[in-house]
Amino acid sequence: MITLGVLINTALRTANGQAGNLDPGLFGNTAVNDEDVKGAFKVSSLRNIAVTSPYMHNGKFKDLDTVVHFYNTRDTGGINPETGATWELGEFHSGRNTDQLGDLGLSFDEEKDLISFLKTFTDKRYEGLIDK
Ligand code: HEM
Repeated sequence: MITLGVLINTALRTANGQAGNLDPGLFGNTAVNDEDVKGAFKVSSLRNIAVTSPYMHNGKFKDLDTVVHFYNTRDTGGINPETGATWELGEFHSGRNTDQLGDLGLSFDEEKDLISFLKTFTDKRYEGLIDK
């Protein structure tokens, strides 16, 4: 399976008049028939990622720390630092990629190191926008 399993942004769906409807992602393209891509979204560039919050296709996460912690603990009962609750299930939970994502086994310090690395993808002219 291939999706990241990003959580539903209920507020956004409601604002768009889509409350209660699932977002099929790539499968919403009428030219696509492969059920495996339900809930799949394009892998975006990580250039300037430290200054382009909010994150994911639906802006669900405000902080880069949250994204990294989600990758690391999605499937291990981790806590969403933005809500203080365990991660909710993504819209197409059974289609999530469990081979490469969701249980990375990173320590807190390793997560911090990864975030520092992501910050190095920032163009010099935007460095002043990085949250310290
Ligand atoms: C630990 C390694 C990884 C890090 C730090 C990372 C980081 C990120 C970040 C920060 C975003 C948000 C981009 C944005 O909103 O502008 C993102 C999106 C995404 N990443 Fe990763 N990524 C990692 C590994 C992977 C892997 C292994 C895959 C696929 C197998 C993947 C697939 C995706 C996809 C599909 C999205 C878009 C999801 C959406 O828009 O909902 N990532 N990644």
